[in-house]
Amino acid sequence: MNLNTKQFFKKAEDGGYAIPQLNVSSADQMKAVAKVALELKSPFIFGTSEGEGKFLGLRQAIALAEVYEKETGIASILNADHTKSLEKVREYLDAGYNSIHIDGSLLPYEENLEITKKAVDMARKVNENISVEGELGQIGGPGSSKILTEAVEIKEENLTSPKQALEFVEATGIDRLGVSIGNMHGISNITKPKLDFERLSELHEILKEKCVLVLHGGSGIPDDDIKKAVELGIRKININTELRLAFAGALKKALEAGETTPYKFIAPAQDATQKTTQEKIEICGSKNKI
Ligand code: 13P
Repeated sequence: MNLNTKQFFKKAEDGGYAIPQLNVSSADQMKAVAKVALELKSPFIFGTSEGEGKFLGLRQAIALAEVYEKETGIASILNADHTKSLEKVREYLDAGYNSIHIDGSLLPYEENLEITKKAVDMARKVNENISVEGELGQIGGPGSSKILTEAVEIKEENLTSPKQALEFVEATGIDRLGVSIGNMHGISNITKPKLDFERLSELHEILKEKCVLVLHGGSGIPDDDIKKAVELGIRKININTELRLAFAGALKKALEAGETTPYKFIAPAQDATQKTTQEKIEICGSKNKI
């Protein structure tokens, strides 16, 4: 797989658009995502959380990403989403992932800095062009990509501080920074995410020459807010819950209708995945960028 993933984010920064990260846990989802991205000529990222990667199998995920790269002619970026330990980073790099997200955001600041710097060093040793993402500030929610029935408290003290972000980026050498600006993982029935655009502008102003900004928790944020976040400097948006809901909803409907042939009950789930992917590509502004 193409190991120079940094160049995709540089192009996004120069072009003022965001690349969507679509989280996947199955070959069926990967196939659906790659098909739409090809049709829309959009760069995109396959994301696998630790659980998703384990279910897919890291080498199988790489093999599938390679197949789609060959079939579509679009370079596949496969990102290890929310990796929490250096052992896991090692596993992903050994398997051949070309993008790493090390998430030390729940650790005390100094420990986050240390683990992130070590992950950057590990990736650079494999290939200096592998893009590495760190995370600073705590994103809202319990960390799961699902419908939340409880309210989510977004505390001011958990938002990313621009001053600390600059120090963090310079000390770790990361290529991308996941920021906490009022975003949250999952979709809450009660709390609606309210992005702090002023903070985002400040972060972009300070960091635009040093790294690209990432918005986690892309599900459930109104389209206009996503578009504004892209205008203000977000260059990668992670989407999981909405893809899961689309896939599961269509699958449930097909099964409830009595369908028993896998390729017949999986096809509508893939159609629903494609529809969501298309919508996200359009609001990220990444259409026709390859
Ligand atoms: P959502 O599930 O809220 O879309 O968040 C996904 C995410 O940020 C993965 O890193």
